[in-house]
Amino acid sequence: MAESAVPGAVPSAARTVVITGGGTGMGRAIADRFVSEGAEVVVVGRRLEPLERVQRAHVDAAVRAVQADLTDPDAVLRVADALEGRVVDVLVNNAGGVGEPPAPGLHGRLQAWRHVLDQNLLSAMMLTEALWPVLARPGGRVVTISSIAAQRGGGGAYGAAKAGLLAWSAELAVRGGRDGITVNSVAPGYVADTEFFNESGRSPRHDALVSQTLLGRAGAPADVAGAVQYLASEDAGWVTGQVLSVNGGAVLGR
Ligand SMILES: NC(=O)c1ccc[n+]([C@@H]2O[C@H](COP(=O)([O-])OP(=O)(O)OC[C@H]3O[C@@H](n4cnc5c(N)ncnc54)[C@H](OP(=O)(O)O)[C@@H]3O)[C@@H](O)[C@H]2O)c1
Repeated sequence: MAESAVPGAVPSAARTVVITGGGTGMGRAIADRFVSEGAEVVVVGRRLEPLERVQRAHVDAAVRAVQADLTDPDAVLRVADALEGRVVDVLVNNAGGVGEPPAPGLHGRLQAWRHVLDQNLLSAMMLTEALWPVLARPGGRVVTISSIAAQRGGGGAYGAAKAGLLAWSAELAVRGGRDGITVNSVAPGYVADTEFFNESGRSPRHDALVSQTLLGRAGAPADVAGAVQYLASEDAGWVTGQVLSVNGGAVLGR
């Protein structure tokens, strides 16, 4: 793909967009957005079935499914190999989760923390490092999905991992600036209709989380997809090293 000669601009030809966790929830909504702008979309996840569902929903579009557990460095390198050196215009580090409750005792807790740090923080770091050499220069975009838990805690290791993503993204933005690559994060609040929160109907937990918002509703995957699409756009060419909170006002920005 031809690279734009305009600093900060995104290439005008079809962009190549890699979305981790692109088969479900927010990742799926993000994939749908980029397909609708005509991008070539690569969705990555551990299970092939949700990824193939994205392909089936867009039979006329260029959607590629790459099965990989991003906590495994060899699998991460295979994702990079599958791209065969093509320029990546947008990388969306969206894969993550809260993991299983820890087994009793310190060893159990350590194992659970390591799993959550692997799944949310180290997976994003590894794939970004693996794809860094093929990110578009200038105009490349890295967008990472953090969480409201990074701002106010929550889930123990989960909040710590999501906060770690913000510190790492800030450093990466410095590195990317030299090459015209922007690096930003989105921190969603409660987003229903995801596998993460599959209790989208009325429940005490749903009602409690909605009541924390100023707008009186849960977020939808499309709310987050819109924020990601903006950060990946040409309009966001001078936005880097930032955290965009998408939380219905549950935590106020400063
Ligand atoms: N829903 C919320 O309220 C909320 C709020 C704040 C932040 N978030 C964050 O938003 C992101 C998207 O979550 P979601 O809410 O859309 O839930 P989701 O539907 O569970 O999506 C998570 C995706 O990540 C993939 N994934 C998980 N571990 C992976 C691994 N080791 N390797 C490759 N792919 C992996 C999953 O696919 P496989 O299982 O097939 O691998 C799944 O498609 C996550 O990072 C989550 O922490 C969610």
